[in-house]
Amino acid sequence: MKNIIKINCKINNFNNKIEVSGDKSISIRCVLLASQALGVSKIYNLLESEDVLNTLKSIKKLGIKYKKNKNFYQIHGLGLNGFNTNRKIDLNAGNSGTLARLILGLLVNSKNLITLAGDKSLSNRDFSRITNPLKIFGANIISNNTKLPVKILGSDYLRPINYNENLGSAQCKSAVMLAAMKTPGITQIKAKKSRNHTELLFNSLNIPIKIKKEKNHDYIEVRGQYNFSGFEYKVPGDISSCSFFLVLALLSRNSKLIIKNVNVNNSRTGIITILNKMNSKIIIKNRKKYKGEKIADIFVKSRSNFSRINCPKKLNSSAIDEFLIIFLVAAKAKGVSTFNDLGELNKKESPRLNIAINFLRMIGIKVKRKQNSIRIFGNPDLNLTENYTIKNFNKDHRVVMMSCIAALTLGGNWKIHDSNSVNTSFPNFFKLIRKLGAKIN
Ligand code: S3P
Repeated sequence: MKNIIKINCKINNFNNKIEVSGDKSISIRCVLLASQALGVSKIYNLLESEDVLNTLKSIKKLGIKYKKNKNFYQIHGLGLNGFNTNRKIDLNAGNSGTLARLILGLLVNSKNLITLAGDKSLSNRDFSRITNPLKIFGANIISNNTKLPVKILGSDYLRPINYNENLGSAQCKSAVMLAAMKTPGITQIKAKKSRNHTELLFNSLNIPIKIKKEKNHDYIEVRGQYNFSGFEYKVPGDISSCSFFLVLALLSRNSKLIIKNVNVNNSRTGIITILNKMNSKIIIKNRKKYKGEKIADIFVKSRSNFSRINCPKKLNSSAIDEFLIIFLVAAKAKGVSTFNDLGELNKKESPRLNIAINFLRMIGIKVKRKQNSIRIFGNPDLNLTENYTIKNFNKDHRVVMMSCIAALTLGGNWKIHDSNSVNTSFPNFFKLIRKLGAKIN
């Protein structure tokens, strides 16, 4: 019964400009790669959320020093063999699947047994998707089942692998790429499309990588054991954090919002494509490129006529963290929207597909489910007046943020438990919605 917030009124109209915090995926990757560089890296606009702070704590336990300066973090990398693993070490990834999975990739050459644990939510998630390929590299892995805690003891005789990543998981692809970076020879990966931040970082650091893009897959080759120097990086805004504000503006009345400096990498902009197919008229302007990443300002205004969507499956991976908030727009759309093949949603911080269905039914929206596909029967006149309590959702940060946006735009009296879980990915969330005028107790 901790950290309950109450929202009892819709947000008034607003016309504002905001900036969301740094991208979580890129922040975690930057810290992990900086730990492997030779020399000092400087990371600006690093997201200071729990997932990223746990990444910094983990590299510190592995002997890597870092320092927080006024506007950047300085990380003293010791090269590809620089982790001090001459003793047993216990790491805790907290809530972060990305940290847990990627750091295992970096531990394939550890000298001693490293135990990796996580919080209750992370301890329920599948790790065989990572440990299976890492065992083929030659790492020794002990785990009771497919779950955390996982113990890993690296090998001095790593060998490159051929790996077929067929879940569309950037975490799996990236863990294998990081292990490949430590392994002599060429690792070959055939990967179903997923976010490509690791590939772009490898390119910008000159880590030898070849990528051939085909319609549904990318073919990636990484040549291992290339030493790279410390680097500078300015992390762009996180489109996943931005997505809550896009929907807040869309579903509010007479409001306008500009969100500046957002990462609009094509492998992440599924939310914009989907919302625009639903008649949202979101505009991307002032495009720039930075170390392979695309960055831009996003312009959004309130809308009232959302159309239904039959969401193409090919957009699933580029909107994978945004479906909860997309479903809220589908709930206000005219007609029945369909979303298919979303089994991976149930493998996140909470079983998000199940949670979304319960949530939508709770607010009076009809939903039909067939295996991992759902149909949402939208109601453009949706206006809530009752009491709603949000609890028992594995403290999933994105469930809290989605529920706040629902409360601020659809009405009703809301009690939302475990609101501090937003700290996982977006500690500034409440400050920013209050800046736009939201009244939250
Ligand atoms: C992430 C990849 C996605 C996403 C997660 C972050 C990443 O997970 O859901 O929030 O940074 O690589 P999967 O790769 O498991 O789909």
